[in-house]
Amino acid sequence: MSFNCLFLFREITKDLCRHKILLFQSWFQGLVVLCLLVFVICLALSDNALLWSKRFSLHTQYYLLFNQIYQARAPAYRVHPKHKVTLNTINETTESSAVQPEGVQYHQAYPSNYQFVMDNAEVCKNTPFLVLMVPVAPKNIAARDAIRQTWGKDSVVNGEVVLTLFMLGLDGGADVEKLKQENQQHHDLIQSNFMDSYLNLTIKTMVIMDWLATRCPTAAYAMKVDSDMFLNIDNLVFMLQTPGIPKLNYLTGMLMWNRPVVRSKNSKWYVPEEMYPDPQYPTYTLGMGYIFSNDLPAKFVEVSEYIKPFNIEDAYIGECMKRLGLSPTSPPNPSQFKAYNSKYNRCEFSKIITYILGSSEQLINYWTDYKKPGPHC
Ligand SMILES: *[C@@H]1O[C@H](CO)[C@@H](O)[C@H](O)[C@H]1NC(C)=O
Ligand SMILES: *[C@@H]1O[C@H](CO)[C@@H](O)[C@H](O)[C@H]1NC(C)=O
Repeated sequence: MSFNCLFLFREITKDLCRHKILLFQSWFQGLVVLCLLVFVICLALSDNALLWSKRFSLHTQYYLLFNQIYQARAPAYRVHPKHKVTLNTINETTESSAVQPEGVQYHQAYPSNYQFVMDNAEVCKNTPFLVLMVPVAPKNIAARDAIRQTWGKDSVVNGEVVLTLFMLGLDGGADVEKLKQENQQHHDLIQSNFMDSYLNLTIKTMVIMDWLATRCPTAAYAMKVDSDMFLNIDNLVFMLQTPGIPKLNYLTGMLMWNRPVVRSKNSKWYVPEEMYPDPQYPTYTLGMGYIFSNDLPAKFVEVSEYIKPFNIEDAYIGECMKRLGLSPTSPPNPSQFKAYNSKYNRCEFSKIITYILGSSEQLINYWTDYKKPGPHC
């Protein structure tokens, strides 16, 4: 390339001498300038290519380094000072004080923008080994009752204290008095003052993390588990008792690798580019049920201040992990996490940890059968 350019340049300079008179004609001047430019570019790309690429990569490294520092230390540049909230403090003022400027939705997931209206902080006193946190709509009493009769029933599993709690948002249609009664009876409802909706699931997850970090920091492990799941709690506790299971920075479940961000507008999982610009998510654990060491919630809450929320809660946790410099761990036996709904099989259900179900009725029926005495297989 550079040879051709030189050749071209020489030819043109020869021409230049022959036609001195024409030199000052403006079209020719333009051509000369253009050729000089091409020549300089060719030179830069060939002879000095190495030097240039070195400079470029240095620049890139500097840029990345700067960006890391920028992201880790200078969130104030991304966050309007007016919208900064102190970490881990629940703002006692009303919702109107919370931080929602027009056009900017960054902080909606940041849980300190919301406060608990039902909190049950005392339920954590006896240092649980595992806390099951179930996001559920306020109206879905049937799901809560089914869980209370099945995998949420036992407070001690294989010698370990297990706590099952339900996380609700606000729902204009729900009967507040009835919810209070339900909580008085079971002491297992946690409610925060954000609007309960499918698109607000990321808020719900982050409020779960906030509750764990501030109300239950002594628990060893926690799990976010959907209300439509069959959870083999015995196998889960057994898995967490396995020697060598990390006690810190541990997130496990069904791992999702290289998942593309859904850009099709009529999909349930649609995320616009403004919310999440990368074409694919970092590795995350499928939202039906993921388990984590209980040091992570406080870290998620802290880092979430700097991560623009998007409506895919499990991928959002994946993004939090990435920003913390962590990644999810494969479970000891990945085949125990099933994300499909097929016919009940007593033998299979005795081996798994999660299974997606169709209804609360199914949960009660399958559980009743699974708990019947006699061999499973
Ligand atoms: C709560 O919000 C108000 C109004 O924005 C602010 O003045 C106050 O400092 C906040 N309190 C905390 C604890 O962040
Ligand atoms: C999510 O919750 C916030 C806070 O309550 C509310 O302002 C917003 O409208 C909710 N979004 C959706 C899509 O429900």
